[in-house]
Amino acid sequence: MKTLLVIKSSLFNGSGQSSKLVDRFAASWQQKNRGARVVVRDLAADPVAHLSAEAFQGFALPVEQRSPAQHAAAAISDSLIAELKQADAVAIGLPMYNFTVPSTFKAWMDHVARVGVSFEYTENGPRGLLESKPVYVFAARGGQYQGTEADTQTGLVRTFLGFIGLADVEFVYAEGLGMGEEAAQRALAEAGERIERLAA
Ligand SMILES: Cc1cc2nc3c(=O)[nH]c(=O)nc-3n(C[C@H](O)[C@H](O)[C@H](O)COP(=O)(O)O)c2cc1C
Repeated sequence: MKTLLVIKSSLFNGSGQSSKLVDRFAASWQQKNRGARVVVRDLAADPVAHLSAEAFQGFALPVEQRSPAQHAAAAISDSLIAELKQADAVAIGLPMYNFTVPSTFKAWMDHVARVGVSFEYTENGPRGLLESKPVYVFAARGGQYQGTEADTQTGLVRTFLGFIGLADVEFVYAEGLGMGEEAAQRALAEAGERIERLAA
């Protein structure tokens, strides 16, 4: 059975624009992949803690030497990585907050990047340990930053995913959502059309 992993990070949960876009993609994807399942990881409803030194050090310890707090952090990290590994495709709802990714998404990244588990260093440099699969990112923004230096998200997310082995990444932007009703509707309609094409 095919699996789509949906990752959401809007403060506004299901009513966030990035959540609506990712939900729309998931619905179309599921229609095209009959019998497939969708697994949702909502980072706003169920946030991952900020990474602490104790948790980070625990990742490198043998299981039997971890403290209870290190066990708990490693268990969360293991389940986030397992979700990625088990998915056939990944769809990420990514709002722009204060010129970067939501802090909940950063905490997710900090628990997904694990040396020896999701990446390793070789004599030729870093190597991602996850099997390649399509990743779709639905980026919702109040302003318009695509192609400018203020778009701090695209490079960051692409680099991070590539680092763990996920280099097949497609971005869908809904920009200008804070620039008046007309601009917002136009951006959402364009994003909607791309979603239908992508899900096919
Ligand atoms: C706390 C906060 C910070 C924001 N910062 C930015 C920003 O830096 N740049 C921008 O273009 N829009 C910004 N916005 C607007 C959001 O990107 C826009 O509302 C988008 O729809 C958020 O996605 P969401 O609806 O899925 O939460 C901000 C919104 C909030 C609530």
